Amino acid sequence: MQTINAERLIARIHELGDIGRDPQAQLTRLAASDNDKAGRDRLVAWLHAAGLEVAVDRIGNIFGIWRDERNAGEAPLMLGSHIDTVINAGVYDGCYGVLAALEVIETLKERGVEPVRPVVAAAFTNEEGVRYAPDMLGSLTYVGGLTVEAALATVGTDGSVLGEELERIGYAGTAEPGFAKPHAYLELHIEQGPVLEREGFTIGAVENLQGISWQRVTIDGVANHAGTTPMAMRCDAGLAAARVGLFLREHIARSNAPSVATVGTMRYEPDAINVIPSRAVFTVDLRDPDEARLSALEAVLSELLVRIGTEEGVQISFERLARFQPVDFDQGIVEAIETSTKRRGFKTRRMTSGAGHDAQMIARIAPSAMIFVPSRDGISHNPREHTEPDDLVAGANVLLDVVEGVIGRG
Ligand code: GLV
Ligand code: MN
Ligand code: MN
Repeated sequence: MQTINAERLIARIHELGDIGRDPQAQLTRLAASDNDKAGRDRLVAWLHAAGLEVAVDRIGNIFGIWRDERNAGEAPLMLGSHIDTVINAGVYDGCYGVLAALEVIETLKERGVEPVRPVVAAAFTNEEGVRYAPDMLGSLTYVGGLTVEAALATVGTDGSVLGEELERIGYAGTAEPGFAKPHAYLELHIEQGPVLEREGFTIGAVENLQGISWQRVTIDGVANHAGTTPMAMRCDAGLAAARVGLFLREHIARSNAPSVATVGTMRYEPDAINVIPSRAVFTVDLRDPDEARLSALEAVLSELLVRIGTEEGVQISFERLARFQPVDFDQGIVEAIETSTKRRGFKTRRMTSGAGHDAQMIARIAPSAMIFVPSRDGISHNPREHTEPDDLVAGANVLLDVVEGVIGRG
């Protein structure tokens, strides 16, 4: 059975993972930052060294294209993910999928395979959405879900403008997003959750992905003295904000649904120990695999905000930052993943992705699916993120098999 070059893949994951570390050794490569540029430069150098044609589109998505005169007219098979990271990240999220895509192409090239269609390794801009909302912004723009102009005008959490930052780091490319409509799209990723490890599976054949709803909530109260203002006389924006996360947790526990809710950012003004907060700005991330349940949860949040506004004597406004419906992946590709894993003797189960991924966007224009490998202790978006090398190699070999099936079939 054919295999990818395990050492090369793992060495690259760690080399890329060392780019963008601060003096405390924390890894942060936020989209279109200087650290992202350094990671992109490294990736592009590898793509060139592998003899691939490199294209960058106007939203900064990077493509390493393997094609020849014979197959150049065919729709490409696209493989990819992202190399931007969250704050204080692990080294596998996204990078594994991009580097495995390159590894599969190099393996096939070295074996002298002549594919019937081009194969592309893609790295999409701002998948994480930490600096610019929405997440998956590069792939969303690629499929036409956001105009290039609107995407470039996106203002970041630090007040930067994405288009200006892409210019500054040299990744405002010229290709039009969507320039190549894929024949199919495959994304290999770490699970980022506990299921595969807990149940003893090596590979997850991802058949769907849950819906995501992001909002930013602003609560305005009245700053006042923390020592002299009786509890009943406060318009406390901080307390009102704190009620939201607590309520959502209790509501979801009562409803017994698989929904998840996260208040991931919280900022108080004036942010002083002895001043009742006049303002609280925070984000709420809601997810559920079922569209109706996700919409119902959004309605619960809206009603809650109105009620808290009245009860706490505060003004509440909110802005939607991202909204993506659940996605079903292509059954044919999911079956091809299972066929490969059976042949290779890996224990496999079908599963739902809890995280957002570029595949969720590309699925709008091409048959798509994902392959997951286990995450130790289910930890991700954390430097402790880890996947055993054998599992990384197993996932890349399954990707290789599925790619061979598609490029051989035509
Ligand atoms: C991306 O990592 C997300 O699911 O938020
Ligand atoms: Mn990811
Ligand atoms: Mn992530």
